[in-house]
Amino acid sequence: MRQMIIAGNWKMNGTVPETEALLKALVDGDSRSGRARVVVCPPFTSLYTADGILKGTHIALGAQDVSAKEKGAYTSEVSVAMLLTVGVQYVILGHSEKRQYHAESDRLVNEKAKLVIGNGLTPIICVGETLEQREKGLTEKVVGEQVDGTLSGFSADFLGKSVIAYEPVWAIGTGKTATPQMAQEVHAFIRNRVAGIDPKAAENLPILYGGSVKPDNAKGLLEQADIDGALVGGASLKADDFIAIIKAA
Ligand code: 13P
Repeated sequence: MRQMIIAGNWKMNGTVPETEALLKALVDGDSRSGRARVVVCPPFTSLYTADGILKGTHIALGAQDVSAKEKGAYTSEVSVAMLLTVGVQYVILGHSEKRQYHAESDRLVNEKAKLVIGNGLTPIICVGETLEQREKGLTEKVVGEQVDGTLSGFSADFLGKSVIAYEPVWAIGTGKTATPQMAQEVHAFIRNRVAGIDPKAAENLPILYGGSVKPDNAKGLLEQADIDGALVGGASLKADDFIAIIKAA
């Protein structure tokens, strides 16, 4: 049985007071799910506060990135050890916004993922094609290369400690969602691709969908055989919407 996960990627949203308010609304609200693990990924500056609120609750904490370096003269970077001291369990890696605005490569994501897993955290590794790539029929080529590159050198054990998120770039923040069938096709493709590392670990790998997931489209997506949860951006910033998506799982 694969673990289902509903994760909120807050991106660059959430001052400390806003974090407190949103997390209290989630904790006090009906945000439990019988099936899915609930994860929130606030900005770095909110993690310490978030940990204080979420400790002992059913909601797990994630970060939106981490440095590939362990420590030292890397101005602005945040290390795995720092994340561990604030109760982080998941780390989003290779989000398309990092790839696009910070030229993050598959190789760097791969380095970060190995460091993250080696320290007992779970990476949520993001892959996805642009609209131009989809229109040229390159979706499988692009996503396949991202999967191969970000998971390069992974053992079955490492794959078993990972989560992948398929986020078509054209569906992020645009209100355009992949249809459940379109998403399912790519999810099945990804699972098949990682079966090359280890078929059993591939079968157990949670593959989340991300890109304009909203309360009204979540159910159709989450019903698909190879869609094991959602990585939610905008709708995770409103407690009611995020709870509705959790309830759709
Ligand atoms: P939206 O849900 O706002 O489209 O964002 C998706 C995303 O990028 C999650 O990581």
